[in-house]
Amino acid sequence: MTTYSKTSALMRRGAEFLGSDHAILCGAMSWVSERNLVSAISNAGGFGVIACGAMTPDLLDNEIAETKKRTDRPFGVNLITMHPQIMDLIDVCTKHGVGHVVLAGGLPPKGSVDRIKESGAKVICFAPTLALAKKLLRSGADAMVIEGMEAGGHIGPVATSVLAQEFLPELAEDHLVFVAGGIGRGEAIAGYLEMGAAGVQLGTRFACATESIAHPDFKKAFFRAGARDAVASVQVDPRLPVIPVRALKNKGTELFTAKQREVANLLDGEGIDMGEAQLQIEHYWAGALRRAVIDGDVENGSLMAGQSVGMVKKEEPVADIIAELLAESESALTRR
Ligand SMILES: Cc1cc2nc3c(=O)[nH]c(=O)nc-3n(C[C@H](O)[C@H](O)[C@H](O)COP(=O)(O)O)c2cc1C
Repeated sequence: MTTYSKTSALMRRGAEFLGSDHAILCGAMSWVSERNLVSAISNAGGFGVIACGAMTPDLLDNEIAETKKRTDRPFGVNLITMHPQIMDLIDVCTKHGVGHVVLAGGLPPKGSVDRIKESGAKVICFAPTLALAKKLLRSGADAMVIEGMEAGGHIGPVATSVLAQEFLPELAEDHLVFVAGGIGRGEAIAGYLEMGAAGVQLGTRFACATESIAHPDFKKAFFRAGARDAVASVQVDPRLPVIPVRALKNKGTELFTAKQREVANLLDGEGIDMGEAQLQIEHYWAGALRRAVIDGDVENGSLMAGQSVGMVKKEEPVADIIAELLAESESALTRR
């Protein structure tokens, strides 16, 4: 077995925390991060994370059970904080003895962190600002993910390189911080590890792996695309704050503009309130992503992808992608 001693030494804390060989998480991707990809990542020594998205507790229960049939290595579950049944979803994770729950999409609702920790599981949170990261760590979060705007899917406004410089010097010594967004090669992993990251999280590089169930046309769109094709959505109405989503440009990009106008008109007519308006936008994304990932409608669906998409050239087994990333990191560290 190839060893990556310098990379492994820098990943040791993160790997111990995750219970995996390498501190490389495959970030949850709705519709993509299901039993097959998640188990493949964990079996290859990384850390897979199920994307719960809008699943009901019963669906999540089944997905975890199916994933456990495919791997006996640790994996996590990503829950969206605004899910109306979040507490029930936490209980499903507890029932299955899931070791790590990732809370995404906003501040964790009251009681959720404690509920997860009571089960003995670790809590991983996303933090958009350093102040919020400190608050979440004080409230019981065991680790942080910082994710820059290069990433695919819902994004914040700040680049990964800047977040890393802001967060790592302050937090990395005493806390576990995983860096995500725009990572396409191992040299970048080496850099963030040297800055103190406990590990990294990638999505785009894994989305088209052999084990990913994404439609062949979804994968082809990734292989053809370059960094400039992965653009952030634009907010068309100042009153309707939409979280930007990075995806490959297509007709779906325009359809989202039309959807925003439709929802803004409903707000005008006072047919719905702001909470309902935002929920409608999120439902739109979930449906559009499904259309592209599952149905292969790459024209009208959402091709969520990060700027590292230009480094996704062909379908490869997860194990090869992980081995390549580790080899690149190791040779970068050896050259230092
Ligand atoms: C197709 C796609 C779907 C995603 N869906 C989710 C999601 O449901 N929940 C979430 O927390 N992050 C989601 N993400 C973000 C990933 O988990 C990961 O953090 C991100 O892809 C890392 O950046 P990268 O794409 O530059 O590697 C998604 C990303 C992609 C590409």
